[in-house]
Amino acid sequence: MTDMPPVCDYEGSDYRTRFWEGQQRGYEDQAERVALRRLLPPSGHTLIEIGAGFGRLADEYLGYETVVLFDYSRSLLREAQAALGDDPRFLYVAGNWYQMPFVSGLFDAMVQIRTLHHAADVPALFAQLARIARPGGQYVLEFANKQNLKAMVRYGLRRQSWSPFTPEPVEFVELNFDFHPRWIRQQLQQARFSPGRTLTVSYFRVGALKRLLPTGLLVGLDSVVQYSSWLGQFSPSVFVLNAHPVTGETAVSGHFFACPTCQTPLPDADNGRLTCPNPACGHQWRVENGLYDFKEPIL
Ligand SMILES: C[S@@+](CC[C@H](N)C(=O)[O-])C[C@H]1O[C@@H](n2cnc3c(N)ncnc32)[C@H](O)[C@@H]1O
Repeated sequence: MTDMPPVCDYEGSDYRTRFWEGQQRGYEDQAERVALRRLLPPSGHTLIEIGAGFGRLADEYLGYETVVLFDYSRSLLREAQAALGDDPRFLYVAGNWYQMPFVSGLFDAMVQIRTLHHAADVPALFAQLARIARPGGQYVLEFANKQNLKAMVRYGLRRQSWSPFTPEPVEFVELNFDFHPRWIRQQLQQARFSPGRTLTVSYFRVGALKRLLPTGLLVGLDSVVQYSSWLGQFSPSVFVLNAHPVTGETAVSGHFFACPTCQTPLPDADNGRLTCPNPACGHQWRVENGLYDFKEPIL
């Protein structure tokens, strides 16, 4: 636990109302949905969204039998739960992506959008995702691109100290990182993912354009230029579809959660608790009003 990378904590945050609702971000939301639909297989067995927040994109996953909304923030997950009601497809799981509370080889599909910029240790996160990925499945990753047009212009005018062209991540605000597409692909490959189809998204994320042009027109233009990644990736947001590692475990039917401390598969909840059967661990985790809480053990 002591060497755990720092976490950007959204507990109690007003992210939904401060950033999305009524904040003129219809263009970004719709452009991201276009990209997601182009990359994500429309149906399947088990999907996880990592850093799902308040469940903004949850309605994109209705073709899946089981959908895990995973986030560090219990309060945002409660907002998702309130919005989605009692749809039995959805599971709400609080935890830290550096210690995923799932058995190996579980998920057919994994989605991560607008969250990688909070990852101080990308290789550690990708190693966890490679472990819980089911061979043969797909992982849709969106990341904030440091090599974007605005950063290039600012760097050219000497209004920005860091270079958008060098591969290393840049932390422009504490626990907020932009990444170079080449560096991200290297990290994915080191974790045994196979990066493939790539879309460049949100080129028109400019206040004046959003004020002047109808959202539908901007989204239409975006959906065309999303295909231009072969010309170069200079958009603020990049989506990449990754094949899961081809070898690795496939989860045994009936096994789902694993202790985040020692990775031992957990038996079903009893009396609102999941108890690790490993005698050397024995941690207990709370299940309360439909929320599985792996942030810290009760015991
Ligand atoms: C900017 S929000 C994006 C939410 C959602 N993906 C969306 O696009 O609406 C980033 C989310 O990442 C989550 N997050 C950050 N660090 C995390 C970690 N270590 N483990 C799990 N979730 C984390 C935050 O709690 C927050 O909900």
